[in-house]
Amino acid sequence: MSRLSRRSFAASVAAAAMARPALGQGAYPTRPVTMVIPFAAGGPTDTVGRLIAQAMSADLGQPVVVENVGGAGGTLGAQRVANARPDGYSILLHHIGMATIPTLYRRLSYDAINGFETLGLVTEVPMTLVARRNIEATNLQELVALIRQRGEALNYANAGIGAASHLCGLLLMKAVDTRMTTVPYRGTGPAMNDLVAGTVDLMCDQTTNTTEQIRAGTIRGFAVTTPERVSALPDMPTAAQGGLPGFEVSVWHGLYAPRGTPAPITERLNRALVAALQDATIARRFADLGTAPVPVARATPQLHRDFWQADIAKWRPLIQAAGQFAD
Ligand code: MLT
Repeated sequence: MSRLSRRSFAASVAAAAMARPALGQGAYPTRPVTMVIPFAAGGPTDTVGRLIAQAMSADLGQPVVVENVGGAGGTLGAQRVANARPDGYSILLHHIGMATIPTLYRRLSYDAINGFETLGLVTEVPMTLVARRNIEATNLQELVALIRQRGEALNYANAGIGAASHLCGLLLMKAVDTRMTTVPYRGTGPAMNDLVAGTVDLMCDQTTNTTEQIRAGTIRGFAVTTPERVSALPDMPTAAQGGLPGFEVSVWHGLYAPRGTPAPITERLNRALVAALQDATIARRFADLGTAPVPVARATPQLHRDFWQADIAKWRPLIQAAGQFAD
């Protein structure tokens, strides 16, 4: 953040603090709130989280401070929040992994299904199949041929079992019926550095992390994994258009608090999230990165919980049939 925007950010936090009525006895929040991002800094979850945290800070009148707790496919950060005091000062921004982790991980030291209060959905992000810029393929058909030819000689980067990049890689390897060597990172932020450097070959990652690199030509983009093209990357075909029908996945994000967080606090956090989703700066930045805030009508705790639980049920039989568990 520039010095000027830091100053205006601080001013807006202070103004909001003065404008907010107290929540009655035990006004909330009276100190900074920690937003745990369960992946490394500089990656797609971090990008979404920092934008949302900044806008929530302005609404809450207290800083929402991002803490990256990466590792083990997003389970370490989730564990931190599930086991935190349910007082509203620890929240979690997580993604589709919240729906796959309960089946992928059979031994966890937190309750991956009942350990959280839902605060609202945040966004849904397309994924892109990308490669080092000098990969020996110029379109998806050539890339598929290369994967089939080289197989495990190709390195596919991901953010660990449970990450969106892991899930997308499984779908890709199933679609091309070929295994590659997977290289796990604490997040696709650091994985992207290696893809740009050319030390890994391929990755499937969210547009929030790939759009600017594709535009700059530091990596090569092959397809988006959504049924429609993405306006931020108008020249990129969908996987179906490129010859891989059914290779489809997008990454939803939601905000959580530890189970047992009192309703007045979860309601206050939901209001701050809704304010962030209506922030024009966030909408513009998200659009530039190929995504959009969810419509506020979808950002209720109940709709978030229903969506999440339905997604757990959707992925469970697919993961069990694949027999690919983290332990
Ligand atoms: C990240 O923020 O690093 C990603 O969301 C990782 C992933 O799920 O692929």
